Amino acid sequence: MSKSVIIPAVQLEEEPYASVICYPRATPKEMHPRIEELKNLEITAVEFSGKSSAFTLSVLGKGYVGIVVVAHVRNTRLALKMQRVDSDRENLEHEAELLVRANNIGVGPQFVAVTKHFLLMQLIEGYLIEEWLATHRDRVVVRTVLTNILEQCWRLDEIGLDHGELCKAPKHLLVDKTNVPYIVDFETASTQRNASNVTSVCQFLFQGNSEVCKTIAVIIGEQNRKELVEILKKYRKNRDRQTFEDLLKHVFLRV
Ligand SMILES: Nc1ncnc2c1ncn2[C@@H]1O[C@H](COP(=O)(O)OP(=O)(O)OP(=O)(O)O)[C@@H](O)[C@H]1O
Ligand SMILES: [Mg+2]
Repeated sequence: MSKSVIIPAVQLEEEPYASVICYPRATPKEMHPRIEELKNLEITAVEFSGKSSAFTLSVLGKGYVGIVVVAHVRNTRLALKMQRVDSDRENLEHEAELLVRANNIGVGPQFVAVTKHFLLMQLIEGYLIEEWLATHRDRVVVRTVLTNILEQCWRLDEIGLDHGELCKAPKHLLVDKTNVPYIVDFETASTQRNASNVTSVCQFLFQGNSEVCKTIAVIIGEQNRKELVEILKKYRKNRDRQTFEDLLKHVFLRV
């Protein structure tokens, strides 16, 4: 893993930084508007650090739509999602709009600003859920974090905002250093679908065969999967608070 470096904004047009800002290849046509946008966002430096990598540089995350790095803005460190040149999205503005809706109910990293190719938001310093579970085995702490995730999903269901990628959420659930969980990436979210955040996240946390499911089962006890399916079926049909609370009771029965 390459070491972490802080590059002043004026140097970002140089390689190898330019090709990460403009991933996977920087051309003057792509680079020029991006440099202007970074200026408008008042970004003074970009920090290449984190557990993922883009070419030779460390980054916080790399997906199909964006590369996420740390940006310095007025002495604060924020997360900057940079749209990949080869992504099939028009811009990051739609994602920003849905993130703001999530923020209104206390979900997601706090939105800061958006331009065509960049989304600036609160930096979540911590772990992906799988890494977090590998080092946090206290059942009460794990129950608190999982309850918080389920409550956030309940609130998203309540406003009809479907995240869209919570049934395979290894990259979309982060837990910060104070054990507060965050749902990230509202890029495939929608208000047009039937919101199924609670059922999707339950599938990811309790019903699959992934490492995450296995670890959770060891810490909080095995689920009675048949009963869980029944409660989720009921929740899908009624989507009321009582059924949601029955679900929580059932899931954490052994903690
Ligand atoms: N606000 C944030 N603070 C810290 N890390 C973040 C933040 N937002 C995203 N990340 C990291 O960057 C990774 C990629 O972000 P994101 O999922 O938004 O990109 P993406 O291109 O849409 O990815 P995918 O194609 O997998 O959906 C995340 O998995 C996470 O590790
Ligand atoms: Mg995405």
